[in-house]
Parts: sequence; C-alpha cells; structure tokens
Amino acid sequence: MSRFIVHGGNKINGEIKLQGAKNSILPILSAAVLTDGETVLRNCPELSDVYAAGRILTHLGCKIKKENNNSLVVVNNGISENTIPDRLMREMRSSIIFLGPVISRCGECSLSFPGGCQLGPRPLDIHLNSLRKMGVSISEEHGNIRCSAPAGIKGAKIILPFPSVGATENILLAAVLAEGETELRNPAREPEIIDLIQYLRLCGAKIDISEDSTLNIKGVSKLSGCEYSVIPDRIAAVTYMAAAAATGGALKITDTAGIDTELFSVYFEQMGCSVYTGNDSIYIKSGKRLKAIKSLKTMPYPGFPTDMQAIMMALLSIAEGTSVFEENIFESRYKHVDALNKMGADIKVYGKIAVVEGVKKLYGTEVEATDLRGGAAMIIASLAAEGTTVISNINHIDRGYENIEYLLSSVGADIKRKS
Ligand code: UD1
Repeated sequence: MSRFIVHGGNKINGEIKLQGAKNSILPILSAAVLTDGETVLRNCPELSDVYAAGRILTHLGCKIKKENNNSLVVVNNGISENTIPDRLMREMRSSIIFLGPVISRCGECSLSFPGGCQLGPRPLDIHLNSLRKMGVSISEEHGNIRCSAPAGIKGAKIILPFPSVGATENILLAAVLAEGETELRNPAREPEIIDLIQYLRLCGAKIDISEDSTLNIKGVSKLSGCEYSVIPDRIAAVTYMAAAAATGGALKITDTAGIDTELFSVYFEQMGCSVYTGNDSIYIKSGKRLKAIKSLKTMPYPGFPTDMQAIMMALLSIAEGTSVFEENIFESRYKHVDALNKMGADIKVYGKIAVVEGVKKLYGTEVEATDLRGGAAMIIASLAAEGTTVISNINHIDRGYENIEYLLSSVGADIKRKS
C-alpha cells in the first residue's frame, strides 16, 4: 500500500497548472455510451476513477484510448453488454451514472450498488424513483438492481425532493434519447452538471434550462460523438489554494478559465489571504496567521460545497479563533477529524456540527486518508505541521488528484510517495 511521507513546514511558492474536473469527466464518459461514433475529450485528468470509468466503457463494448495532452478518445460502435459486474461497480461511486445511459441504450440494465467514499448512507431512491416515472421497471435484491424498459424510456415530469447530483445526471442521461419530453424540476445546478449538458448539446441533445433552473429535455433519436474540453476542477483549485494558505505561501494556479472563483475565494479572504482572479488564473497570497470563519454550512450549489469541508477544516484547525461547521449533505463526513486531532488539532463533533478551536501548531504523525477529500485535508495539515507525517490509504487521494505529489513538490513541498 502506497503512502505519502510529508516533511512539513516548507512554504508553497510558485505556479501550477490546474487539472480538468473529476466531477465532469466521469458523467461525460458515461454519456459516451449514448453517442454513436468517436468522442474526443480534452483536459481529462489522469485519475484512478477515470481509469475505472474506462474499464466500464470497455466492458460495455466501447473502445477507449489515451492520447497526448490529457485527451481520451472513446469510440462507440454499439453497446454489447447491459450488465455491469460488481467488481467494476465497486471501484467508484460514479459507476452508478452508467445506469441511465445503459438502460436508455439497451432497454435493460443489471448492476449492483456502487462503491466510493464512505460518507454515511448513500441511498439511490431518488435515482430509481425518477427512472420508474420514466417507464423503467426496477427490482432490487441482495444489493443488485435490475432494470428493464422494454417499451423504451418515456419523457416524464419529475420534481426532485433534493437536488442530488448523481440523480440529476442519471435522469438527464436517460432522458436525452427518450420518447417525448422530460421536465426536471429542482435539479442539481453544479458547474459540472452544466458541463455535462454542454457536452450532450454538442452531441445533438435538446436541453433547455429555464430561469428557475428547471431542465426541459426533448428526446432525440440519435446522438453523435464530438470533441469536447472538460472544465477545470474547482475543488482541486481550492485544495492547492489551501496548501498555499496553510504554509503562508503564494501560489498562482493557471488554466482556471470558466471557474466561478468568487464562490470560494471569499472564504480564503475571510481567513486573511489575498486572492486575485485573472481570466485564466488565480493567485493567492497568505502571510499572517489565518483567521477563523464563524460559520460554514455545507449546502447544495451555489452554497458552500461539501467537497470543501474537510479541506477547510484542516486549514481552520490552525487559524486564530473558533470556526463552526455544519455538514448538511452527508451524515458521516467528519471521519478526518480524528486524524486532525491526532496531529494536535482541537475539534469536537456534535452530530452534524463540528467546532474547531484553532491551535497554533499541528505535529506530524501517522494518519490515514479516510476518503478522497479527507485525504486532501491530511495533505494540507501535513504541509503545515511540524515534523514528518505519514499518510496511508492514499488510493483515496489518487481518485481525485492528478499527480498531486509532483505538483506540490514543484512549488516547494517536501512530499514523497513510498510503496
Ligand atoms: C455529492 C455532492 C457533490 C459531491 C459528491 C462527492 C451535493 C448536493 N452533492 O454528490 O457535490 O461532489 O457528493 O463528494 O453536494 N440522496 C438520497 N437519495 C438519492 C440520492 C442522494 O437520499 O437517491 C442523498 C444522499 O444520501 C446525500 C445527498 O442526497 O445525503 C446528496 O447526494 P448526491 O448529490 O446524490 O450525492 P453525489 O451525487 O454523490
């Protein structure tokens, strides 16, 4: 099992190039099940989850090949399989977004519950109930889901009880080739959902977004592959900004065009950092001790993202004052707290509330990456800590960060991967 060995205390200083968005490329790869011919995807991050999506596409009958400059080519000359085996489903959470496309393309789909980060219960009722409204019969038994729609998928009016990201993606992907029109109210509004919609539109899908964010999808008979460049990864941007902020450094992040940086720069500014946003870059400078943020409540987009919670907690654990977090998206997303406390932080959890009393210093020790963003939080804490931190279970981190140790080393961090 690989580990990261981090000698803390070095300032992050310099310039790095931002990766493409994990949460865009994964649904776009599953959308390639729906598109005939060749799709060329640019700005694809090299991540273990992307390889896992590639293995599912290959299993379903597509050909996928890597090209230079972070491009992937997917050739879809017909889907030959409608079952996704458990070993492929368990590799990542996003395997569930293949359900909509496969049922749409094949009229049948069998798969099991997906793997991914353990953040508490992650039910699929919103996905499955929505597909039922679209004419899909579904049976669930011993963790297996069997779907069939012999008469094809039918457009429907769907109101989501919660703007679930995964359910919005599955419904969109089931609806684009459906018979008739689908009206989807209260969908997720994340930039990565908009990216998926832009890709589908280029392939020939008819999707309108009304002022209240309702999605109107008119089913078409065919989608054709296209060339598309994935948007930059806003959560990776936040992670690298946090690395600079934690170490009192200064960092320019390039290739950020299209990210709404205002949404997260505000938190770094509240902590006392200076942030400058250009057309295609973000610059952050941090000198003094960070200041606490009184209240951070995770909310659906455009609120404070749940994916930023662990990363910000690592930072605020060394800020001056008390910060209070409220995790409203997942029931069990504070698994990183024990590791931060082991490093000297003072964090108490009361149900969905976490109270962080900022300490002056963290100290290196042995910790585990409990999940993807919890693992990123361990890296941020270890960069700021005195002494050496050994982070195990880093396979979680590889799911979402391309070459993270290489990038951080290039701007001054002392971080090495050891197998
Ligand atoms: C969620 C996050 C997304 C993040 C990703 C990985 C939100 C709204 N979604 O997406 O930003 O990138 O995790 O960390 O912030 N739920 C149900 N039934 C369902 C589907 C979801 O009860 O059928 C619940 C979940 O248990 C969870 C919440 O809704 O409490 C959010 O789920 P959803 O947005 O679907 O999760 P992801 O797609 O994994």
